[in-house]
Amino acid sequence: MDKQINTVKAAGAIGAHVSGVALADIAHSDAVYAQVRQAIVEHEVLFFRDQERTPQVFASFAKRFGEVLGHPAYVTVDGADDVQILESTPENPSKIEVWHSDMTFMPMPPSFTLLQGQIIPAHGGDTLWASATAAYDGLSAKMRGFLDSLVAVHDFRQGFRESLAEPGGAERLADAIAANPPVEHPLIRTHPESGRKGIYVNALFTSHIKDLKPRESEQLLSFLYRHIVTEEYTVRLNWQPGTVAIWDNRSTQHKPINDFLPQHRLMHRVTITGDRPC
Ligand SMILES: [Fe+2]
Repeated sequence: MDKQINTVKAAGAIGAHVSGVALADIAHSDAVYAQVRQAIVEHEVLFFRDQERTPQVFASFAKRFGEVLGHPAYVTVDGADDVQILESTPENPSKIEVWHSDMTFMPMPPSFTLLQGQIIPAHGGDTLWASATAAYDGLSAKMRGFLDSLVAVHDFRQGFRESLAEPGGAERLADAIAANPPVEHPLIRTHPESGRKGIYVNALFTSHIKDLKPRESEQLLSFLYRHIVTEEYTVRLNWQPGTVAIWDNRSTQHKPINDFLPQHRLMHRVTITGDRPC
């Protein structure tokens, strides 16, 4: 008999806590994985508490969701190349401050991102997620119709502009910039599994909306960024060592809360390849 997962909603519009299974159960059972896959599409972000903190187990769980995608700007764990290290120290604090969906500067951005807490500050360092589908549903039919027709441009350089401005930053990221020219995505994308539409622009990587005047683009993006993070569309996670979160980048945005410095924080991350937004 396969294990059954228990899901308990973490907020009104988005997020669920999953219990009753361990990462290894999901890695080793098609039937358990199918339940988790259904839950992630429905709830958009899932939280698992008190999981084994072995990078290899984390990677084998992550690989269930698809092929692993590397990231041009992060180092990986020794002996577990698929697992990236996100570390924040007083000397090298986290630079990501704004709401975003991961790596939308790519023609085919990642479908899922998985994060596991390894070293967690005594206080602070929560993560927020927002449902881009609930935000879309919350707009008027007229506004949805207008947005449906738009295309936005996403640019790696915008997301890493602080790193680029550091001494040696431009040289260090030159290859990544050359490999990631700006890309166009529909401003509203349809989730390939749920069929739900969601707002698909983010403050980290979206540079502008195509065919609008610069001021129109700026004002509309700024409205959408505020709208997406309406409290009713969000959920917040307080991390513990071993906590795992998996989210669907096709239907959500997230934001790290950098209120824990100068405490040390270390997370393991795996991203999974996606398809072309449409
Ligand atoms: Fe992210």
